[in-house]
Amino acid sequence: MTTTITWLGHNAWSIETAGKSILVDPFLNDSPTAPVKADGVRADFILLSHGHGDHVGDTVAIARRTGATVLANFEVGQWLAGKGVSSGKIIGMNPGGGIQQPFGHVKFTIAHHSSSMPDGSYGGVPGGFLLTLDGERVYFACDTALFLDMKLIGAGGLDLAVLPIGDLYTMGPDDSIDAVKLLNPKRVAPCHYNTWPPIAQDAGSWAQKVRSHTAAEPLVLEPGGKIAL
Ligand code: NI
Ligand code: MN
Repeated sequence: MTTTITWLGHNAWSIETAGKSILVDPFLNDSPTAPVKADGVRADFILLSHGHGDHVGDTVAIARRTGATVLANFEVGQWLAGKGVSSGKIIGMNPGGGIQQPFGHVKFTIAHHSSSMPDGSYGGVPGGFLLTLDGERVYFACDTALFLDMKLIGAGGLDLAVLPIGDLYTMGPDDSIDAVKLLNPKRVAPCHYNTWPPIAQDAGSWAQKVRSHTAAEPLVLEPGGKIAL
């Protein structure tokens, strides 16, 4: 069975695997680069990395329309329940915790970032996701600085790592090269750049650095572009 991962711009991703549709950080309607709107996506599950508006995005509307199960940190989950997402469809997590789901295994990993909700309320701690999908391991770092423990995340082998390269709010291109060295994935895709001018980056020169300084294959996508695992 093939897993397909589509970039929806910024840190928004759509994953088709095991007959299920999974969204990561579905920031769509207000995203300058998203190739689809919130009412045009399928979702059985939504993975939310933290409370910032450019990640929570259209989660409430999509979850209410589709009945998708949302996996997020505990406080983000509580906030979503307060916005009308069914509490029976919310799985609250915390860093280091994992859970088996119908499409694969989800582990909520640490991230160095912040996590207030769009209305300013407390959003718990931010995270990333280590997914095991049909035997393939995929790491979404989400919004984070570079951290040495990425070595632990990569220790079991990674088929794909998805890293922010925008700088300013997250690690930038140079730190992402160090992240690739620590994670040692087979392939690496950049995100969280070129959404707005403050996080503009040259993905072509980033890809050259990945090729010359690491063993990973860089995958630079346009929004709407797909990766087959
Ligand atoms: Ni953020
Ligand atoms: Mn962000």
